Amino acid sequence: MKKSKRIIPISSGKGGVGKTTFALNYALALSRHAPTVLVDLDMGTSSVRNLIDTPVTRDLYHFFKQGRPLADCVTQLDRRLDPMRRFVDFGFVAAPHDVIDDVTNMSAESRDALIDAINGLDASYVVLDLKSGLDPNVIDFLPFSNSGILIFTPHLPAATVAASQVVKAMLFRKLRALFATGSEIYNDLSVPPARIHALIDRAEDTYDPQAINLDGFIEELSGIVGGHPAIKLVAHAVHFFRVHFVLNLFSGIKDSYETAIKPFTENILQRVSGRLSIMNLGWIIAHEDIDRANNRRVPVLLGADRSQKSPATRLTQLARRHLGSRALASRALQRPDPDQYLEVQLETLRNLNDDLKNAGYRENFKYIVYRSLHIMSSMRVGDFGDSRLFKPSEMRHAMARRQR
Ligand SMILES: Nc1ncnc2c1ncn2[C@@H]1O[C@H](COP(=O)(O)OP(=O)(O)O)[C@@H](O)[C@H]1O
Ligand SMILES: [Mg+2]
Repeated sequence: MKKSKRIIPISSGKGGVGKTTFALNYALALSRHAPTVLVDLDMGTSSVRNLIDTPVTRDLYHFFKQGRPLADCVTQLDRRLDPMRRFVDFGFVAAPHDVIDDVTNMSAESRDALIDAINGLDASYVVLDLKSGLDPNVIDFLPFSNSGILIFTPHLPAATVAASQVVKAMLFRKLRALFATGSEIYNDLSVPPARIHALIDRAEDTYDPQAINLDGFIEELSGIVGGHPAIKLVAHAVHFFRVHFVLNLFSGIKDSYETAIKPFTENILQRVSGRLSIMNLGWIIAHEDIDRANNRRVPVLLGADRSQKSPATRLTQLARRHLGSRALASRALQRPDPDQYLEVQLETLRNLNDDLKNAGYRENFKYIVYRSLHIMSSMRVGDFGDSRLFKPSEMRHAMARRQR
């Protein structure tokens, strides 16, 4: 049986956290395992091509304006960058080098066309470098039942809060699709759409003095519709949602916990739900080589690997441990207690720190890749990345189908 493709969007609440640097090197590291395509969806900054010193003959301009198949717009690394041919399974789709308004600000139809094309790409892994922020050009490319990979850093606390807002936006997008006016969900529901919409608005608007998070929303909705199956759909969408994050510019566990992970987790608990699972995939240390490589336009993982710190086999074994410290995580899931959530995060940080003590950035990337591969092979499709992206019009259907 052909293994299903995984589409892994990389997003961040704000720019400048290292999203493109991560997406690029992560995709390179993944391509050592199976064919991988990186797609630059951060239109307007065309940042991926700026980090790779390789001529681009076709990019998203040709896809949108000349009707080229997306597969024809994939660029391979220039041979000079990869003389040993270690990364022949890597390709990237560049954004246009100029701002072209109707490409940069895609219409809903353009987004649908690109989603179809990404779904049709022939690769094992497709990594998306998304724009930062929360407009439809970001949200529509996020997976359906998990967050893809969120990047934030202890150095930019505002980006951490913004990352938790991405999670919130994803879940509300699903809710709104489910309860859209005209949805068949209202067929046997004696409640007018407007009443549900008002409740969703209240849950989404944190300025509302009667603000509720999604757990509160589910409770209130139960009060309105009783035991209607819609409740199960909503609860399932929230409770099985998985958040994955990576810390960039890591500077020690205390710092990361206090200025990034704790506020991130607390924000999600308070404003989104106390029942999601939140997984730390690992971190990338700050290193001048990374910045220098970006400036030279030779991705840092392409440089000669002189490190012999951790043989790959040892790192693979390490990476399989502590995948969310299951026992603690399931305790936290059963009894949503904010302290336990934080305890899980701190314990995970300590465990990862044992694994990654003295590790260099190469090991950092490899570790995250091994963890990703392990999650993809051992858990359900949709727990990490997704086998396809869903257009807004397909969401409702997909929600009903995925429910277990
Ligand atoms: N781990 C790191 N160590 C050192 N410099 C980094 C690291 N990650 C990113 N940078 C630098 O930070 C800046 C922002 O990175 P970039 O990937 O462009 O962020 P974003 O895509 O989030 O805007 C760049 O100058 C990049 O070279
Ligand atoms: Mg970027």
